[in-house]
Amino acid sequence: MLDVAKIRQDFPVLERRVNGKPLIYLDNAATSQKPACVIDSLASYYREYNANIHRGLHTLSEEATSAYEETREKVREFIGAAESRSIVFTRNTTEAINLIAYSWGRANILAGDEIVLSAMEHHSNLVPWQLLAAERDARLVYLELTADGQIDMELAARLISTKTKLVAVTMMSNVLGTVTPVSELARLAHNQGALILVDGAQGVPHMPTSVARMDCDFLVFSLHKMLGPTGVGVLWARPEILEAMPPFLSGGDMISSVWRDRVKFNELPWRFEAGTPNIADVIASSAAIDYLRTLGMENVRAHEIEMAKYALAGLQEIPGVTVYGPQDATARGAVISFNFSEVHPHDIGQILNDGGIAIRAGHHCCQPLMRDLKVAGTARASFYVYNTKEEVDAFLDALKEADKVMGHVACR
Ligand SMILES: Cc1ncc(COP(=O)(O)O)c(C=O)c1O
Repeated sequence: MLDVAKIRQDFPVLERRVNGKPLIYLDNAATSQKPACVIDSLASYYREYNANIHRGLHTLSEEATSAYEETREKVREFIGAAESRSIVFTRNTTEAINLIAYSWGRANILAGDEIVLSAMEHHSNLVPWQLLAAERDARLVYLELTADGQIDMELAARLISTKTKLVAVTMMSNVLGTVTPVSELARLAHNQGALILVDGAQGVPHMPTSVARMDCDFLVFSLHKMLGPTGVGVLWARPEILEAMPPFLSGGDMISSVWRDRVKFNELPWRFEAGTPNIADVIASSAAIDYLRTLGMENVRAHEIEMAKYALAGLQEIPGVTVYGPQDATARGAVISFNFSEVHPHDIGQILNDGGIAIRAGHHCCQPLMRDLKVAGTARASFYVYNTKEEVDAFLDALKEADKVMGHVACR
């Protein structure tokens, strides 16, 4: 298991006080905090070897290029991919999905084709497919959820058909915490000749990941949710798929030769990284990956199951609290959405913030799911490697204490 007390010393922001109270950061599904090694790595790039990459012959450029490419290799290992050329850096998960929709989607989705999504997708894995479907006269098909927030796999087996060209699903829901049976969905997709895209924005930071084990065709995720800096996303695709995809953005770096009237594109992965990339943040992402590898992703997952179990048990004891998603902590991640009586989730968030506790409230970029749940929004507490049971206790106490204030708010 994790030595959380020791881990906490690595995160400078956890020394902060908010509204006179020690910060309790439970908004990790939105973005994680950063350890000192990541912050130091960023500063060291700018202080010691800031230069553009891939095109310089001087020492600084060579150092920056090799640090940038080293991150690609670390990402490859982290997700169990065979080749680093199939790893493309983007700005975030959203951009990675848009890249797939524009490039692969426009080359492969035709009128009458079906794109299968789950009913719990983040807008980032929904709107790009809506736009593509509208443009191509294709159809979106939704995998519905069971009462406890799991994908209805019997229905999935019927809905994934010869018309399906792509199944695009989250690895872990950012609202319900549900862990999706990705490899089973991959089998259903592949049996019908379709591809599967896994949105790993919530999964990759919190559990061991292997593209080989999941048997997926695309995996996307963001480094800022896994201790890394903002501004770095990853698109992994099977190399033969990426090889066949037309460029997304064009310009510098993605070419090997340009004439007045034609162009020869660069090799993978640089063909999909036009222009100067986010060099500093990609380099600092190495430190985040090293940090997680040292902790061990099995240990991260075990810690979060413990946190989820503890928080779910505590929430169930508070009258008026409704928790969404699987009740079994092993079927979910440590992201817990809930409502409290009739109180608006924003009010819950505000009251907890008065006590230094940071949670999120709203639709969590999942408006269709909110409609299915028949709520305007939820409050959401999400945990990571530096969170403790004492913090869960403080969160539950604050919720109980807030009862009176909330009672007044509810009567407004
Ligand atoms: C499941 C899921 N997919 C996609 C995203 C989008 O990630 P980003 O904002 O880094 O592009 C998020 C962000 O919260 C998410 O939770």
